[in-house]
Amino acid sequence: MTLTAHLSCFLALWMVGQGLNNSLYTQDSGPRPMELIEIFKLFQVQFNRSYSSPAEYARRLDIFAHNLAQAQRLQEEDLGTAEFGMTPFSDLTEEEFGQLYGHQKIPERYPTVGKKVESEKWGESVPPTCDWRKATDIISPIKDQEKCNCCWAIAAADNIEALWRIRYRQIVDVSVQELLDCDRCGNGCTGGFVWDAYITVLNNSGLASEKDYPFQRHAKPHRCLAKKYKKVAWIQDFIMLSSNEQVIAGYLAAHGPITVTINMELLQHYQKGVIKATPSTCDPRYVNHSVLLVGFGKSKTEEGMQAEMTSSQSRKPRHPTPYWILKNSWGAHWGEKGYFRLHRGNNTCGITKYPFTARVGQPVKKLPVSCPP
Ligand SMILES: *[C@@H]1O[C@H](CO)[C@@H](O)[C@H](O)[C@H]1NC(C)=O
Ligand SMILES: *[C@@H]1O[C@H](CO)[C@@H](O)[C@H](O)[C@H]1NC(C)=O
Ligand SMILES: *[C@@H]1O[C@H](CO)[C@@H](O)[C@H](O)[C@H]1NC(C)=O
Ligand SMILES: *[C@@H]1O[C@H](CO)[C@@H](O)[C@H](O)[C@H]1NC(C)=O
Ligand SMILES: *[C@@H]1O[C@H](CO)[C@@H](O)[C@H](O)[C@H]1NC(C)=O
Repeated sequence: MTLTAHLSCFLALWMVGQGLNNSLYTQDSGPRPMELIEIFKLFQVQFNRSYSSPAEYARRLDIFAHNLAQAQRLQEEDLGTAEFGMTPFSDLTEEEFGQLYGHQKIPERYPTVGKKVESEKWGESVPPTCDWRKATDIISPIKDQEKCNCCWAIAAADNIEALWRIRYRQIVDVSVQELLDCDRCGNGCTGGFVWDAYITVLNNSGLASEKDYPFQRHAKPHRCLAKKYKKVAWIQDFIMLSSNEQVIAGYLAAHGPITVTINMELLQHYQKGVIKATPSTCDPRYVNHSVLLVGFGKSKTEEGMQAEMTSSQSRKPRHPTPYWILKNSWGAHWGEKGYFRLHRGNNTCGITKYPFTARVGQPVKKLPVSCPP
């Protein structure tokens, strides 16, 4: 059993035993229970955290306690097999987390190019499962967007890398920094949308490699150095898919990973399992985080029985839960080795709102591009 799993079991038991609740956690009310301090100590060891002063330590301990209570609440609300608890982000407020790892501007506009919607025919023959991670060297390593709200650029880069590897059997890692520095439609590290990245790739006639033009993780804008480096991957265009989950699954299985944009509300405290939310626990209308969809499957019945120590046990599903597998950009220590799973079939967290993909190909004559109106 891993340290995290062990801790979360212990914690769930302890919280139930103590009957602690949110209001107790959020107040700064004198001495802390010893157990909490012990758990916080383990958190600091596991995620290598130290704090500059006793005051800062006390503040972080408060936030940590609040977040554990929040995770417990999410655990109770989840209708799938998801487990919520201690994560690398447990000592950050929701606001700090949003600044470090979030959130993009909520799109109000559609791109003029790439407005094509792929046909419905992909929904006709969908395999029962699909996981592009199982194909050798197709999915690039998990990236970490820390301090840069560029999930949109990373999701687009992950999409182009996977499709290029599938089509040309050639391992490429493309430059996220080029997408940020040369972006004229979005706002670089302060937010954007996947189509802004695709427009940049079209406008730059391809993308340089990550090795030549590495990710800097600075919020401050850099000069666009697109002309300085040789290109390693190109796209022909990009398209929006149908919002039908069956069609998305068929397209994904036939062509490869695509990008989606979801409401990230439930992810800060996510550890593992399939998140099954409702429109009231994760509003599908407000999406603010772009990620790569890499596969789908169905969880076995037993999986729902693992979280035996939680009070939501009775609500755990007895039927197999269909899920999507998604690649996040918060490092490999978050979630299921950097990935997470969402319930499939009911527009969980708005997953069907913006399904976009590039179509890779050898260089073509440059066409004029412009930002969405
Ligand atoms: C939480 O604890 C406070 C103080 O013990 C109590 O007044 C309140 O009713 C509790 N709330 C819940 C939801 O249990
Ligand atoms: C732990 O964090 C410190 C800075 O706080 C850093 O210098 C050190 O390299 C980190 N250690 C590991 C193992 O990541
Ligand atoms: C993302 O959107 C949801 C729903 O509007 C909101 O609750 C959450 O705080 C947002 N997260 C960030 C980091 O903006
Ligand atoms: C899908 O969502 C609707 C609306 O919230 C709900 O009534 C229905 O039971 C859900 N279906 C499944 C399979 O979860
Ligand atoms: C395309 O690139 C040129 C520089 O080569 C730049 O001036 C222009 O703003 C870019 N347009 C878009 C839509 O990115």
